[in-house]
Amino acid sequence: MATIKEVAESAGVSITTVSHIVNGTRYVSEGLTVKVRSAIDELGYRPHTAARSLRSCKTHMIGLILPDNTNPFFAEIARGVEDSCFDAGYSVILCNTDNNLEKEVNYLRLLENKGVDGIAFVSIGQDHEAIEILAKQKQPHVLIDRYIPDFEIDCVLVDNRVGARKAVARLIELGHRRIGFISGRRNLVPSMEREQGYREALRHLGINVDPANLVEGDFGLESGNRAALRLLSRPHRPTALFAANDMMAIGALKAARQMALRVPEDLSVIGFDDIQLSSFVSPSLTTVAQPKYTMGRRTAEILLTRIKQPETKTISENLSTRVVERESHGMAPKETAA
Ligand code: RIB
Repeated sequence: MATIKEVAESAGVSITTVSHIVNGTRYVSEGLTVKVRSAIDELGYRPHTAARSLRSCKTHMIGLILPDNTNPFFAEIARGVEDSCFDAGYSVILCNTDNNLEKEVNYLRLLENKGVDGIAFVSIGQDHEAIEILAKQKQPHVLIDRYIPDFEIDCVLVDNRVGARKAVARLIELGHRRIGFISGRRNLVPSMEREQGYREALRHLGINVDPANLVEGDFGLESGNRAALRLLSRPHRPTALFAANDMMAIGALKAARQMALRVPEDLSVIGFDDIQLSSFVSPSLTTVAQPKYTMGRRTAEILLTRIKQPETKTISENLSTRVVERESHGMAPKETAA
């Protein structure tokens, strides 16, 4: 089996240069890269990853644990994590927990056994058992999006409450007074904070919160559709719906069609996330944009810093959201503006 030394001699470069090209840990010119790659092919060199990781105790791998890889929100987060890790010479292992605690715990154990250098983690909620395992594991870790109280862990979050409050305040400005709220699973901090923002916006203008106008979803399309059908079937139905994420808001748009309600003439709908799909549905969805790609990149940057400097103090970042106005919201229907 050819050695890295033989490859370096054959290509006329240093062993370090070969190592950077093999690990992607530093930029090397196109010309040198081509020479080294052809020497690797000619000599049949295969880097000993296990030996390398034993020597350096680094695998240059990052684990990314997500609750639902069918939700585009997490795909855009993952893109930011992966781009940032790739730039730094790290590979990413994606673990989809399907909102299942057993899977979440299994993946944490797997990533520990694989010896990944760090873990980026989106909680499924109510998973203290998993968080305790994460906190005890030696690998550096960063929470994304879903804050877990009582744990001192690096995290990258957004201002859910402020974003939700601005969205609902906009509906009130347009004359809506009966505004429905479709939450995510209530045990998740982002959903709780968005509900808080919804309540604050109504209370700020002396509008009572009618408990019947709040229905729990699970952040999925079907749950948004079911919740909206339930809200829109009420005798004094809401004239606007605020959903705690875009997938449920898109489910609500379908419910409007099913109920022969025009959007936004008869019903306004606002979501949260601003996934790419939201500007392509018709009518295009007004929503609260989260900086998803930046959240992913910042998570990776914090994690990679933690790997290199484990002693740095805990970092908690709170990024801003913003209301993106599109076609799915408008003035309250005349007869209902209170
Ligand atoms: O769409 C998925 C939701 O779960 C997002 O709003 C995100 O904040 C996560 O908590």
